[in-house]
Amino acid sequence: MSYRFIDVDPSIGPVGALISGVDLAGQLTEDIVGEIHSAWLKHRVLFFRDQKLNPAKQAAFASQFGELDVYPFVKAVDAHPNVIPIIKEPDAKMNFGGAWHTDTSYSLQPPKATLLQAIEVPDVGGDTLFADASLAYQELSDGMKQMLEGLTGVYSAKMVHGGKGAYTSVAGGGNIGDAYSEDKETAAVEVEHPLIRTHDETGAKSIYCNKFHTHRIKGWTREESLPIFDFLVKHLIQSRFVSRFKWQVDSLAMWDNRCVFHNPMNDYQGKRRHMHRVIVQGAIPI
Ligand code: SIN
Repeated sequence: MSYRFIDVDPSIGPVGALISGVDLAGQLTEDIVGEIHSAWLKHRVLFFRDQKLNPAKQAAFASQFGELDVYPFVKAVDAHPNVIPIIKEPDAKMNFGGAWHTDTSYSLQPPKATLLQAIEVPDVGGDTLFADASLAYQELSDGMKQMLEGLTGVYSAKMVHGGKGAYTSVAGGGNIGDAYSEDKETAAVEVEHPLIRTHDETGAKSIYCNKFHTHRIKGWTREESLPIFDFLVKHLIQSRFVSRFKWQVDSLAMWDNRCVFHNPMNDYQGKRRHMHRVIVQGAIPI
């Protein structure tokens, strides 16, 4: 595909493309937004550099792709209910979202897009890895695909945000930031989604479950289900499916949360990292 309004460089790796030639803080025409949307569906993660986006501008750009969502477990930045701070202070041990996952797959309608803007980054470390869950699905054997076909997962935030969840069971909420807000009722909710989801815009199938957000396969015990989740995630994080993004201040990444897993590296102890995140509402996974 050729682009008239943006430059698209997919050389970052198996998933994602670096987009240049556009100022996301400016007035974007329908044509420009259309090209960004097409590039996003094709490359699944778009990376932008040198974008001066305050919370209002980041939310305004994100809203070109759908209605914005509210994340239940982190207090939003003042006056911007859809923009959450993701901060790791120099004395914190855990980072936020530090495992392979897609965002909020435990909610009934998980976001289709996440837009993450870098405010302050360590000079070394804190990269985010992205894995193409569609490509990884395609490379499963026919036998495995058939076995997974029709299996439903029971998804819940309880493994991460529940009473004994990864954040809440560690003193000080794992010290993942002052904005972290416990919501035990929301964390306990269980919803059902397929283990393999079909993209509502492209029709591509992709691996969707992971052990932090998927409690079990419906009708199976958690113990029985874990080896399947572990196998699928181990399969999808092979280097042929993974790209690595090194953040700079004012970088923005926008990923297709329906078919891309991500994992922020926690390898910068003693340094501060500060991001702003916006999510765009998605459909019920099918
Ligand atoms: C997240 O899981 O949304 C955070 C990703 C990051 O901090 O790179």
